[in-house]
Amino acid sequence: MTGEYGLLEPDESDAPGDEFEQIDVSDTEADRIARKRDREFSQFRKRIKDSDRFKVDDGAFDDATFAALYKLVQDGYVDAIGGPLSTGKEANVYNALAGERSLDLLREGEEEVAMKVYRTRATNFQDMREYLVGDPRFEELGDKKKIVMAWTRKELSNLERARKAGVRVPQPLAVERNVLIMEYIGTEDGRAKRLTEVSIENPETAFEVVREYIRRLYAAGLVHGDLSEYNVLFYDGELVVIDVGQAVTVHHPNAEEFLERDCENVASFFRRQGMDVSGDELLAWVQEHAEP
Ligand SMILES: Nc1ncnc2c1ncn2[C@@H]1O[C@H](COP(=O)(O)OP(=O)(O)O)[C@@H](O)[C@H]1O
Ligand SMILES: [Mg+2]
Repeated sequence: MTGEYGLLEPDESDAPGDEFEQIDVSDTEADRIARKRDREFSQFRKRIKDSDRFKVDDGAFDDATFAALYKLVQDGYVDAIGGPLSTGKEANVYNALAGERSLDLLREGEEEVAMKVYRTRATNFQDMREYLVGDPRFEELGDKKKIVMAWTRKELSNLERARKAGVRVPQPLAVERNVLIMEYIGTEDGRAKRLTEVSIENPETAFEVVREYIRRLYAAGLVHGDLSEYNVLFYDGELVVIDVGQAVTVHHPNAEEFLERDCENVASFFRRQGMDVSGDELLAWVQEHAEP
């Protein structure tokens, strides 16, 4: 029954929430590129700035961000930067052509990537801090720039972990400073639709898949923390979970609260689809069926 949404078999997953990930947020090569501003980099920056499709005049891009993009192009993750898929409070998401290195990692036939660029300026750092503090993977945090960089890495490692746990998420490809490169979910005609944007024919099945995703994440030691119909895409018969930057390990002091909220958001969406489900029931089911 759940097969209708292409539920994957989980891989062996890591021990939940017990790894200490050393993250190096010291001076990156991108910072050095930005400082040096050689001719090639300056031309690259100018090309992007002048491009009509790539609207970057909203303060999301400082020189170090341009340098991160430049490095991702040089390293073969990105070939050409495309138009915006979304402009949000904390990040902008763009479509891009995959470079050689990404093509090697992606599935046969996939030629595009999504590029999530976190703002280093206008971001709400206090909110980020709340999710990062208490996560053993992110012990030491410094200034704003470092918080955003840690956050971007956190999204990459959460994507990896979710994927291992059998949750369909965009395949993570690379991270450079405040820029995350991942599999693009969509077609040439446009990005995949969010659950809010489609009419769901069989909500019972969709609910079971989302419930199973919450359970698998939880069993793998993660709580999404912003799960709702806005962060689940419908693509090619599958439900794809996105936006896992804020996901925390089950050891986070607020993990239970976030799980409760996720369950309530999901239940309330499916109630609007005519189902008789409550957040409490969903939470109880998840906790009963997942020993983290
Ligand atoms: N990998 C992806 N492939 C296709 N579209 C994506 C991808 N990641 C994000 N998007 C699009 O960009 C929007 C914003 O991305 P999201 O990660 O949810 O960031 P935000 O924090 O701004 O909500 C999503 O709702 C989705 O439409
Ligand atoms: Mg989102």
